[in-house]
Amino acid sequence: MDMSNLNSTHHFDVIIVGSGGAGLSLALSLPEHFKIAILAKSHLTDASTYYAQGGVAAVLDQSDSIQQHIDDTMIAGVDLCELDAVQQTVNGGKPSVDFLLQQGVAFTLDQDQQLHLTREGGHSQRRIIHAADATGKAISTTLVQRAQEKANIQIFENFIAIDVISHAKLGCDTQPNRALGLYALDEQHQTVHTFLAPFTALACGGAMKAYLYTSNPDIATGDGIAMAYRAGCRVANMEFNQFHPTCLYHPQARSFLITEAMRGEGAYLRLPSGERFMLRFDERAELAPRDIVARAIDFEIKRLGIRHVWLDITHQPADFVKEHFPTLYARLLELGIDITTEMIPVVPAAHYTCGGVMVDEHSQTDLPGLYAIGETAYTGLHGSNRMASNSLLECFVYGMSAAQHIEQHFDPSFDYPSIPAWDTSQVTDADEDVVILQNWDELRATMWNYVGIVRTTKRLQRALHRIEMLKKEITEYYQDYYVSKNLIELRNLVLVSEMIVRCAMQRKESRGLHYTLDYPELATELRKTVLNPPNFQVEQPLVNVDSPDLC
Ligand code: FAD
Ligand code: SIN
Repeated sequence: MDMSNLNSTHHFDVIIVGSGGAGLSLALSLPEHFKIAILAKSHLTDASTYYAQGGVAAVLDQSDSIQQHIDDTMIAGVDLCELDAVQQTVNGGKPSVDFLLQQGVAFTLDQDQQLHLTREGGHSQRRIIHAADATGKAISTTLVQRAQEKANIQIFENFIAIDVISHAKLGCDTQPNRALGLYALDEQHQTVHTFLAPFTALACGGAMKAYLYTSNPDIATGDGIAMAYRAGCRVANMEFNQFHPTCLYHPQARSFLITEAMRGEGAYLRLPSGERFMLRFDERAELAPRDIVARAIDFEIKRLGIRHVWLDITHQPADFVKEHFPTLYARLLELGIDITTEMIPVVPAAHYTCGGVMVDEHSQTDLPGLYAIGETAYTGLHGSNRMASNSLLECFVYGMSAAQHIEQHFDPSFDYPSIPAWDTSQVTDADEDVVILQNWDELRATMWNYVGIVRTTKRLQRALHRIEMLKKEITEYYQDYYVSKNLIELRNLVLVSEMIVRCAMQRKESRGLHYTLDYPELATELRKTVLNPPNFQVEQPLVNVDSPDLC
């Protein structure tokens, strides 16, 4: 297959990779005279945003306060949240809700026609706005529709960004280095296009497809984190991977989440004996932060040699359950479980990437002109454990902040150096694709078995050894053969997995989502783990946590 003549170049003002909450809030907050491209790996709604169930955290109730939301976030993050980022995000709650309402998202209302607020783990107040138990669907479909209506936004579905183009990547050292756009594979036609713009935003979601069992959709392969790192940007805190405590354990339903809001509305976790075991682990019981609940379930599953625990909401009135959780009720009934009378089998699964590309308050990365937003970014908000429903909020707050920054710094006379088309002269058709599938399976099993909820130094060393071998094989494959979606994703996933392991090896303590049997205690110093490109050189700056009255 000769792809060399099929390339094309597109010019935009802003290129946004990703059609989730982060990418769309940026696109919809930019002025309408900007020419914007949105790239998505598959359909526009195929994103974690669409699958969010619980909701969006925001301080809206009289009895709640900004300070309480800040405190809850800092406590869940076990002292590693960066106060500036927490304040920016929490203060952005009301404006984000206003933005979503303006776009037309239909949230659930209470009897007084006010936004209904539910509760989730770590939150000391009811502060989660939601659209029944399918909040992400309501947000995603509404924002996608608004983007499709805009004449200034051009949408490229089934386009997979491969790498960022910058002066440095082009070997052009006569001008200060900055992002110039990216190369992307048009999956349908198997051609690589060049997208150029003075501003590029990576809103590619997280990386939890690195694990064998995950709540994430297939797109979550860490592409944004890997691309930014290869472009010279620092990445931080990749050891903190959140395992959601309650994913359905069922042979016919892969990656199906049972929202934490169910525990927020009173559901209990039980062992096969019927015991409500969370009370033994934390006084907040089922509503303790996620790391504690997931670890408790993992402990009980291993202790008793069982495959899952049970989530039980049968003590609530059937009408209440059906009204609050209509999607879950219907889906589980299809699978033969009536949640009003039967308990639900659940297990933890990889859910959220707390670390990511280091950004400032405007979502700027280390490379001028390159932004990272949403789950791809490390803003400092989550610390060592993200609190439920803070992540969608972060997408909107930082998406809007990036939009302001881009608008203020737009220069219509922006000039490009000469940009070569994607070079396919040295590659051929792959001889056998089974290599990719085999490596993909091996990587995900390695991460699950050795870099999961409970870690040890020995397991991490084993994982690193295997990942390095896989990386070598995949790099050779990438250099020799035409790119494909599977190959691009695996190349990224293996790099991001290496980052996870390298960060985990650096953290010699147990904090939040990082729990290691070799260092079970908290360290006294508060440090984030920072990886410098290109060779993972580690820097461990102290975290700026300026709140002496916490924890
Ligand atoms: P996503 O929504 O994942 O979007 C990523 C986009 O990037 C997609 O369009 C994808 O196609 C595109 N993309 C990726 N790589 C490329 C590439 N190389 N080229 C082109 N396009 C690319 N958070 C909450 O706050 N509240 C909740 O209730 C909640 N529930 C959740 C339930 C589930 C099941 C899951 C999985 C997550 C949940 N989360 C929740 C987390 C939250 O949904 C995500 O963190 C958030 O949606 C991430 O948004 P995003 O825009 O950063 O990424
Ligand atoms: C859930 O609904 O339990 C997910 C919420 C989140 O991940 O923030």
